[in-house]
Amino acid sequence: MKDKENFSDFNLQPSSFKNLWSLDPKVTFLNHGSFGACPIPVLSFQQQLRSQLEQEPLRFFTREWEPLLDAAKSKLAAFVGADVEDLVFVPNATTGVNAVLRSLIFHPGDEILTTNHEYNACRNALDFIASRTGAQVIVAEIPFPLDSPQQIVEAVIERVSPQTRLALLDHISSQTALIFPLQQLVQQLQARGVETLVDGAHAPGMLPLNLPEIGATYYTGNCHKWLCAPKGAAFLYVQRDKQPEIRPLTISHGANSPRTDKSRFQLEFDWMGTDDPTAYMCVPEAIAFLGSLLPGGWDELRQRNHQLALQARQLLCETLEVLPPCPEEMIGSMAVLPIPNALSNRNFLAIRDELFDRFNIQVQIVPWQETPKLLVRISAQIYNRIEEYKYLGKALKELIAESGG
Ligand SMILES: Cc1ncc(COP(=O)(O)O)c(C=O)c1O
Repeated sequence: MKDKENFSDFNLQPSSFKNLWSLDPKVTFLNHGSFGACPIPVLSFQQQLRSQLEQEPLRFFTREWEPLLDAAKSKLAAFVGADVEDLVFVPNATTGVNAVLRSLIFHPGDEILTTNHEYNACRNALDFIASRTGAQVIVAEIPFPLDSPQQIVEAVIERVSPQTRLALLDHISSQTALIFPLQQLVQQLQARGVETLVDGAHAPGMLPLNLPEIGATYYTGNCHKWLCAPKGAAFLYVQRDKQPEIRPLTISHGANSPRTDKSRFQLEFDWMGTDDPTAYMCVPEAIAFLGSLLPGGWDELRQRNHQLALQARQLLCETLEVLPPCPEEMIGSMAVLPIPNALSNRNFLAIRDELFDRFNIQVQIVPWQETPKLLVRISAQIYNRIEEYKYLGKALKELIAESGG
């Protein structure tokens, strides 16, 4: 509280957009990226669907469930530029990555390529597959900070060998918030006979997507982050000719369904046992709601978030006296900055907790493998205001000063 008084020159009044979310108005919430946040009208819609389900569970699952699921899938497919037959719902991107990795058959000596920016959970899935099959995980070292997307392409392509079967690549990296030059990477990998599995956890809603244009063999993305759907909504896209190979993690009724009106791929992923499917069914509502907030719809929203991320990054770079670690065109609505040396010997969780406990700030602090050892990752969503990043800068400066910096 004492600290808050010292910071009373900041106008931390929530923006009018923040009232559309149930986010705590007292918290300076600069971490949309980790788990997203779902607006109140979308949550209300989910509650209606849940009431409909619980009122008559049999009617819901035998008559209403599939048309609702198919309609949601169609809307999402249109949003990401895909044919509805090539996309299925999964609860999250981790599940999407696991479904592909655990479906493909690897042999001893096969190589699976990834990068040092890969998200830990997905890297664990890769290591698990490698340990079971004798395949080897090859890690391309992408420098950070970096000057151009070309450095990513070079680092990845350099590690391709005749044994490389698959590359697992982020669309937007978690720790470093970099947009990977995917189209170029996919093309160059394809030319070398390597399939690509893209972890697009952050991309839907942050970047305009056209999945066939990207050309990846497999692409998974979350709807609960930047599309602001309820938690547990994500998708897996698989190129048509690869679909027979890709099975869900849970084998259920779809495996021997006599139906011929849908592909086995669709039938298997549609039903993985009884679950609450309402997060999937809210995806069209989330797309429509977020798209209605500004006159220019989704394009304007993405642009506005991007501009705010750039402005906030610039401001924080000046406050912390650090250099931006990548060019502007390599970030979307998240940005990462190095934390000055004075704080870099502290545990990242301790800094994160202190920012929350003393200043009511939620922001991601990321440990990095090399210097700079610690990064701060900011997110910019429509409910954020530039004043909030100024406040973060002041709070970080205070922690730095206390650490003798
Ligand atoms: C790059 C990346 N991949 C995967 C995930 C995992 O997402 P989920 O927990 O929804 O599966 C995240 C989450 O932040 C991420 O940043």
